[in-house]
Amino acid sequence: MGSKVSVNARDSSNSTNKKRPILANAFKHGNNSFDKRFNDKISADKRSVEKLSGEKRSSAPIPRLNSIKDGEPRLSASSSTADTSLLCFSTFQKGQEDRMNANHFALKVLFDGNTTDAVKDNIDFHSSSVQVLDIGCGSGSWIMDMATEYPSAQFTGIDQVALFPHDIRPANVSFRIGDVLLGLDCEDNTFDFVQMRLFSLAFTRTNWVESLKEAYRVTKPGGYIQLIEAQIRDPGDEVVRTFVEKVCSLMENNDQDPEVCEKLSAMTSEAGYKPIEDVRKVINLQTDVLKTELMYIIDISIESCKRLMFEIYDIESEEEFQELKRIYVESRMNSSESAFYCCVGQKPL
Ligand SMILES: C[S@@+](CC[C@H](N)C(=O)[O-])C[C@H]1O[C@@H](n2cnc3c(N)ncnc32)[C@H](O)[C@@H]1O
Repeated sequence: MGSKVSVNARDSSNSTNKKRPILANAFKHGNNSFDKRFNDKISADKRSVEKLSGEKRSSAPIPRLNSIKDGEPRLSASSSTADTSLLCFSTFQKGQEDRMNANHFALKVLFDGNTTDAVKDNIDFHSSSVQVLDIGCGSGSWIMDMATEYPSAQFTGIDQVALFPHDIRPANVSFRIGDVLLGLDCEDNTFDFVQMRLFSLAFTRTNWVESLKEAYRVTKPGGYIQLIEAQIRDPGDEVVRTFVEKVCSLMENNDQDPEVCEKLSAMTSEAGYKPIEDVRKVINLQTDVLKTELMYIIDISIESCKRLMFEIYDIESEEEFQELKRIYVESRMNSSESAFYCCVGQKPL
């Protein structure tokens, strides 16, 4: 990892120090009221997700990929993605572009670039015939960074929400709304390189199978896929472990896989890709050069989880939330790590 990287210092503890009694127990397991409310809540959520996905299955429209024009809706017509409304990272929440951009540059440093070495060695991104697709491109930071580095290749970013720039972008980038679970409006065998990054909170187990099948369809024979996912089961003290367990329970109840990061290679193989590279990178949150950046990302992520935090910790005020966040962020910083997994597969010729 480059020691040249400069990471901006950011203050992650903007909260009050006044403690409320309820918070003393908030991070402990046990048969208390918030655990019961939490279990009731996730059972109810599960029932509503099952109902919703049943309705969606029968009424999904034919997929179309829409170009963004002023005044058009910014969301694709339909999506069968898991109901993560209680989980964090709703793309409509304030600060999501900031989080995605911060994540992008942290991941670039962590993995020594925007693609792994195997990809760099095998794809000539300087060629004008090279086509690159970023599925779930979010704010577009990865694809714009790549397109700036490689001005000859052609880059396409697709997302079900238009968080990407409309006007200012390199000329070799186009962005569109599309839902990978409804099918991408792209010909078979189009792309030399396909990326899907940070989907673990968006996809159910079935969504992973469907989306990788769709990614495989649009990848050229001999082309590559790159997946990057964060570890969900972060180690740490009791505060961290309690939070992680609650998030994992919620994911399991949504049929989402908290261990998906460890299964990327197996899943890409299942979709037909040949495994090429599998890398795990760990960031020690006390010592790593990226620690400040990661703590900033964790801080925004917890802000995005506000609804979840109110529900599962049975809190009622902004003040309590800020105190809970402060305790969690401090525990992450003092006892935990962040890890990311990257997997590359090749579609056979
Ligand atoms: C956590 S963000 C990651 C964004 C980007 N890949 C990055 O690395 O910064 C997940 C993105 O996937 C998009 N997404 C979720 N489900 C999708 C689907 N079914 N089809 C297309 N995009 C989807 C979300 O809108 C969001 O922008």
